[in-house]
Amino acid sequence: MPLGFPPEGFICGLNYQAQPSDIFIATYPKCGTTWTQYIVWLIHHQGEPLLDSQKIGDVSPHLEEVGQEMIMNLPQPRIIKTHLPYHLTPYHPQAKYIYVARNPFDCVVSFYHHTRGFIKHYDFAEGTFDDFFECFIRGEVDFGDYFENLVPWYQHKDNDNVLFLTYEAMKENLDKAIIKIAKFLGSDCYKDIQNPEILHKVMKYSSFESMSQAQQRWSSQRPKNMPPFIRHGKIGDWKNYFSTEQTQRLRDKFRICTAGTDLNQLWRDFLV
Ligand code: A3P
Repeated sequence: MPLGFPPEGFICGLNYQAQPSDIFIATYPKCGTTWTQYIVWLIHHQGEPLLDSQKIGDVSPHLEEVGQEMIMNLPQPRIIKTHLPYHLTPYHPQAKYIYVARNPFDCVVSFYHHTRGFIKHYDFAEGTFDDFFECFIRGEVDFGDYFENLVPWYQHKDNDNVLFLTYEAMKENLDKAIIKIAKFLGSDCYKDIQNPEILHKVMKYSSFESMSQAQQRWSSQRPKNMPPFIRHGKIGDWKNYFSTEQTQRLRDKFRICTAGTDLNQLWRDFLV
């Protein structure tokens, strides 16, 4: 858990009783959580953006940070962010679970910038990518090992109440991803998204550019000299950071940790 998260939030977050109307956005950190939370929120509000006075973290809080009480105070359907592994995520057979995966190479780069920028939570402002890579590959970062989160969620990807998405597919075809999400959310959302005006608004407000502007209100705690939370939004940025040796080590870990699954097919085109 990040140092700044109260342990009580984690413990009572685990006890939250999932409701049939809940929508969980489940991810490993830095895999497109905020983006997906906002897409879901926009779909549920016919494409109308948050007001200037609202933050995504208030309308869609992080379960294991805030604990169950704050979640229970949300109007239904609740849009709940979590980085919990599958077996710890509160379950209801009718609740919906949207899992977003991102290739671990871009994930670790994004996580590195995240960690050095949150001065309040980490003592890592001067940390190097090489330092962070060692922590990541050992699974000694917030929310533990990347693969221990990804693999069990992937094994449930075909459950009726799970929608498994990738950051890369969302980047490549945002409208397709939005329509897929709306369809998964139910017939009302699916009907709304057939309206080209609503689809256009959801796309506009969930674009990288629009969210980059909005984040100045959403995450005010990052110092000016650090990269912003919504930072780069690209596929393949990892190539600017990884040494040949690091690339090989993460490829090896990927192969070992995903053995027996077809996860290696997921990012075939992005990891060359
Ligand atoms: P980068 O650091 O690679 O730019 P999370 O919300 O899970 O912490 O994920 C953060 C990552 O998602 C960041 O990646 C951020 O820039 C990216 N992101 C956030 N909003 C996005 C958007 N609208 N389009 C593309 N990427 C987005």
